[in-house]
Amino acid sequence: MKLRKAARVILIGAPGVGKGTQSARMLERYKELSSISSGDLLRDNVRNRTPLGIQAEHLMKTGALVPDSMILRLIQNTLLTRGWLTQPGGPKPLTLNFASPYGIQDTLIEHDNFFSNRLPPRKIADEFEYSDSPSASFILDGFPRTASQADKLDELIPINLVVNISTPTEIILDRICNRYIHQPSGRTYNLTFNKPKVEGKDDITGEPLTQREDDKPEVWKERLHRFEESSRSLLEHYDKMGILWTVTGNSSDEISPRLFKEFEKRFGRAGT
Ligand SMILES: *[C@@H]1O[C@H](CO)[C@@H](O)[C@H](O)[C@H]1NC(C)=O
Ligand SMILES: *[C@@H]1O[C@H](CO)[C@@H](O)[C@H](O)[C@H]1NC(C)=O
Ligand SMILES: *[C@@H]1O[C@H](CO)[C@@H](O)[C@H](O)[C@H]1NC(C)=O
Repeated sequence: MKLRKAARVILIGAPGVGKGTQSARMLERYKELSSISSGDLLRDNVRNRTPLGIQAEHLMKTGALVPDSMILRLIQNTLLTRGWLTQPGGPKPLTLNFASPYGIQDTLIEHDNFFSNRLPPRKIADEFEYSDSPSASFILDGFPRTASQADKLDELIPINLVVNISTPTEIILDRICNRYIHQPSGRTYNLTFNKPKVEGKDDITGEPLTQREDDKPEVWKERLHRFEESSRSLLEHYDKMGILWTVTGNSSDEISPRLFKEFEKRFGRAGT
């Protein structure tokens, strides 16, 4: 399936709803879509010793959080490097030059110096144009997590679809919290698909089964509750902008076809 314009997508979903699965399936199905992950960008920049990477590493070593402005700069750099953000008037950002002995790193350094030295931060959006070509399509992962981060991202590049992936809490708990283990032997049981013969007892020794801390419903309920609290303002931010779409399903296989259908309605090119 080919796209008729750029899709700039964010998926939001509680732990256990299979956000990673949906993302991987979309990247597989729509070849023009790529992944931009803030975590990967950070790791790549640290590994390549870019100025931003060095600063970020220093902060992380002292136990500080990497500030939003740095994450935004990483996203901005990768969009510039890919040519999905361009400067219409001013000095052209260096395009990727594989003949350069410095390669990508060279490009990032140029961009970095350029912004930190010459552009007042809030002007950035005015200075750039973004591409609406289908090949400039991406799923952004890891950022933003809050409404205020989303505000800042809006100034850089407009996201045009945010998917609220929703699975009833009971279903998530059922799926995740039904694993029991017989500690001494390591035998595992799955209450849906591989029940012990006697409830709560190992089939062979008759000894009691236990749950890993991570599989306990109370732990998951708390985790899901925290997610709901922390994602609310982000979801509302995009809802107000009219780009939020909610998909509900009990499993990834139920959600994917609905997501594909909606995505293709919005971005697909008929007959491809
Ligand atoms: C997102 O989905 C959840 C269900 O998981 C729902 O409760 C919430 O209202 C949705 N958010 C918005 C802004 O529509
Ligand atoms: C239980 O087994 C089913 C089928 O193999 C699987 O989908 C599910 O994830 C398993 N649950 C756990 C907690 O391992
Ligand atoms: C999803 O789960 C709910 C609650 O268990 C159930 O009522 C509903 O029928 C399920 N939907 C499908 C399509 O299986």
